[in-house]
Amino acid sequence: MSDVVFKVPNHLRRGNVKHNQLESVNQGVALIKLMAREFGLQDLGQSRVLDMGCGCKLVQAFKQEDLPLGEYVGVDVFPDLIEFLQNEVDDPRFHFQYLNSHNAMYNPEGEPLSENTRLQLDEESFDIICLFSVFTHLAPHDYVAMLKMLRRYVKPGGRIIFSLFLNEATEGGHAFWDGVVRDWTENQEKIFGGKDEFIESVQDDEPVDFLDWDPSQPLKWAIYSRKNALRLVEGTGWEVESLNDPVDIIQHYMICRPI
Ligand SMILES: C[S@@+](CC[C@H](N)C(=O)[O-])C[C@H]1O[C@@H](n2cnc3c(N)ncnc32)[C@H](O)[C@@H]1O
Repeated sequence: MSDVVFKVPNHLRRGNVKHNQLESVNQGVALIKLMAREFGLQDLGQSRVLDMGCGCKLVQAFKQEDLPLGEYVGVDVFPDLIEFLQNEVDDPRFHFQYLNSHNAMYNPEGEPLSENTRLQLDEESFDIICLFSVFTHLAPHDYVAMLKMLRRYVKPGGRIIFSLFLNEATEGGHAFWDGVVRDWTENQEKIFGGKDEFIESVQDDEPVDFLDWDPSQPLKWAIYSRKNALRLVEGTGWEVESLNDPVDIIQHYMICRPI
C-alpha cells in the first residue's frame, strides 16, 4: 500500500497504533471488509454506518482505498478530533458529531452516559452501528447504557458490532491476554504472583464478571467474563447473534440485532 492518502495529526489519534498511520489504515480497511463479510454484503456501498467512538481509523481507510460507502456518521468524545474531521473531510457522505459523554479514560469531565442520552440523528436510520476498541474502555454501567442508547438509532434489520476484551485466553488469537503474557511486567508479577498462576487464572471456568485490569490507568483495559458480556446485553433491546473469537485485527467481537 502506498502512503496514507488522508493524514490525521498524531496528537488527534488514539489507540495502540496511533503513531503508525499506515498500520492503522490497514486495520481500518480490514475492519470494513470484516463488517461486509459478517453482514453478507459485497461492500458497504448501500449501508448507512454509525461509528461510535470513531477516532479516525475508518474514515482514513475509506479514503485510502476509495471503498464503497452509503453514508457514515462518526461520533466521538474528543472535540478537537471531531472539529478537525468536520473541517478536513470534504465528502458529503461523511458526517461527524461531538458527544460530551463521560469516560474515565477519555473524557473524565463528561456528562454521564445514559439510555436517555440523545445523538442529533434520526432514529431507526442506521444499517450498521460499529464500535471498535470502545467497549474495551467501558465500565459495566456504560456497557449497558451504550447498548440501550444506541438501540434507538438502528434500522429494523440492522446490526451492531463491537469489540471487547473477554477474560479468556484464545488459541491462536491476538487476545488481550496473549499480549499481557508476552509483555509480562513486575507489576503483574506482584498482582498475580507469577506467570503460571496467572495463565491458570484466565483459563478458569468462572472468571470474575468484570476487571479493570490496571487501576492506575482506569478503564484502559475493561475486561469482561464471557458470561457477563452476554448477560449485560439482556434487557437492552438487543439480542446476541454471535460472540466471535479474536482475529488478527480485532479482539473478541459481538454482533447483536435489535429485538
Ligand atoms: C481506542 S479509541 C478507538 C478509536 C476507533 N474506533 C478505532 O478503532 O481506531 C477509543 C475511542 O472511543 C472514544 N470514546 C470513549 N468513550 C466514548 C463514549 N462514551 N462515547 C463516544 N466515544 C467514546 C474515544 O475518544 C476514542 O476516540
